Amino acid sequence: MKGIIHILKRFLPPYKKHLVLAFVFNILTAILNVFSLATIIPILQVLFRVNTETYTFMPWNSDTSLIDIALNNLNWYITRLIETNGASFTLMMLAVILIGMTLLKTGSAYLGSYFVIPIRTGVVKDIRDRINDKILSLPIGFFTEERKGDILSRISGDVNEVENSVMSSLDMLFKNPLLILIYLTTMLILSWQLTLFVLVVLPGMGFIMGRVGRSLKRKSFEAQNKWGDLMSQVEETLSGLRVIKAFNAEGKISERFHAGSNQFRRMSNRIARRQQLAHPMSELLGTITIAIVLWFGGSLILGGQGVIDAATFIYYLTIFYSIINPAKEFSKSAYAVQRGLASMERIDRILEAENPIVEPQQPVPLTFQREIAYKNIWFRYNNDWVIRDVSLQIEKGKTIALVGQSGSGKSTMADLLPRFYDIQQGGIYIDDTNIKDVRLHDLRSLIGYVNQDAILFNDTFYNNIAFGVSNVEEEQVIKAARIANAHEFIMATEKGYHTNIGDRGGKLSGGQRQRISIARAILKNPQILILDEATSALDTDSERLVQEALEKLMQNRTTIVIAHRLSTIKNADEIYVMREGKIVESGQHAALYAQGGYYTKLCDSQSEFSES
Ligand SMILES: Nc1ncnc2c1ncn2[C@@H]1O[C@H](COP(=O)(O)OP(=O)(O)O)[C@@H](O)[C@H]1O
Ligand SMILES: [Mg+2]
Repeated sequence: MKGIIHILKRFLPPYKKHLVLAFVFNILTAILNVFSLATIIPILQVLFRVNTETYTFMPWNSDTSLIDIALNNLNWYITRLIETNGASFTLMMLAVILIGMTLLKTGSAYLGSYFVIPIRTGVVKDIRDRINDKILSLPIGFFTEERKGDILSRISGDVNEVENSVMSSLDMLFKNPLLILIYLTTMLILSWQLTLFVLVVLPGMGFIMGRVGRSLKRKSFEAQNKWGDLMSQVEETLSGLRVIKAFNAEGKISERFHAGSNQFRRMSNRIARRQQLAHPMSELLGTITIAIVLWFGGSLILGGQGVIDAATFIYYLTIFYSIINPAKEFSKSAYAVQRGLASMERIDRILEAENPIVEPQQPVPLTFQREIAYKNIWFRYNNDWVIRDVSLQIEKGKTIALVGQSGSGKSTMADLLPRFYDIQQGGIYIDDTNIKDVRLHDLRSLIGYVNQDAILFNDTFYNNIAFGVSNVEEEQVIKAARIANAHEFIMATEKGYHTNIGDRGGKLSGGQRQRISIARAILKNPQILILDEATSALDTDSERLVQEALEKLMQNRTTIVIAHRLSTIKNADEIYVMREGKIVESGQHAALYAQGGYYTKLCDSQSEFSES
């Protein structure tokens, strides 16, 4: 209970107005319901001609209670109506009143839910937005591959659970108790003896219904997990479609999915059958309760103690019947609230995840006039050091290259500069300013980044190129594309710059994608450029075009090049050779190669290089 109130406090404040309105209309609905059902009494009395008494009009200010006066005068009016216009006409009048009252009641019930809808959609929207923004702010390291599917399921499934739970708890706190209270009060006014009896019978029935509900819960939790499994499988299939097809593994994947979805179906069958059972069960139990009350109340009437008359008793039963629904919902919502709490916990694991990349308290301005320096840095992702005590300098305007076998830590070195990760020891400086002391935004706006897989978005060429900059002129975009050797193939497409490139640029070749991402970097015009294996995914033909584009991009910039093919880094001002997280050799190509050390071995192992 505390948990859900905490959630409500977090998400409801913007919707206070709606909440109050819904609350007011719920009370109104319950009261109107009591009064509209009350028309049953005179209707029955007219029908069965039970009311043989004669009434005289009582003045409204006499000293009996107002209710008695009202009842008396109502009866007086009805008997007079029967005398003057006949019973049939009176019945019609009463029926019309019943319709009118019901109209009011349903109208007010509608308004009650009308004002709840914006709360429902608003809470869901707020949570989704918060998750999305949090995802954007969290560091890259937070999202290992396995978490992606999970995050998707949180943003869809779990948010829905919370939605249900918030709605249920609103009903639980603000609606059902109210309805129950109003109905119960009415019942007490009508006959406290009967109500006392009901209060003894009802909890027993409630207990049995609760048992049925609980065994339902466990099963549906298992099913939810299964559903999560299935969703991750689809995720995997979508992202691995190329490999699945290439390895002719459709059958295997399909079998796996079918097995899973079959299991899910069996679980769903069991759950749905149980749920279907809940309905007849509760109807049966409800009827049993009503029957018991009918018997007891009937005995009272037949016994002639004058506790309650027949027409009022029927009215009493209808009110009693109205209680059953809110009572049932009340117990159901406890379950929904539980599930919502579990989901909220999962969501909070994202929302409340700490961001280890912190902005400085007092950011200092960043200038880049002289050099970038890595000073004795140590870094690890998890347990093992990946970068060990590395130092290097990059003079402004120069190009350095990092080479080494895959896994030696080159990409990691590059990722540390824009603070995708923070180092554990040592410091990275730009003109003697520690990069941890400047705003992330300032730091990153200095840096351009092109890596092996060009990250493109499902949007037009134009928007993909203009991605990193605001207020850009079309001319500039085209100029950037020209420099990146991308203009021609863009113009060859149907709508030119306004052609949509498909999901992740799926409609383009590797070289084309790479040239788009180079154009993007050219347009951003960063002072520092990181090229991480920018050409290694390409065939030789497109590599030439991309290489050309890269060279134009590198002009007048400070560049860190990481290259798999050593041929591409021959001209670097300084080459750092990395091995298992350390720099083992450094120097310019010719001198390094002449040393006959590790670098020479690396070069020689690449035949294409020794040929050139
Ligand atoms: N996100 C990560 N989490 C954990 N370990 C990682 C991560 N990225 C890289 N590594 C590990 O760090 C080491 C260096 O990787 P990386 O910098 O990508 O090497 P390179 O770019 O030289 O191939 C490797 O052993 C790799 O397994
Ligand atoms: Mg790498």
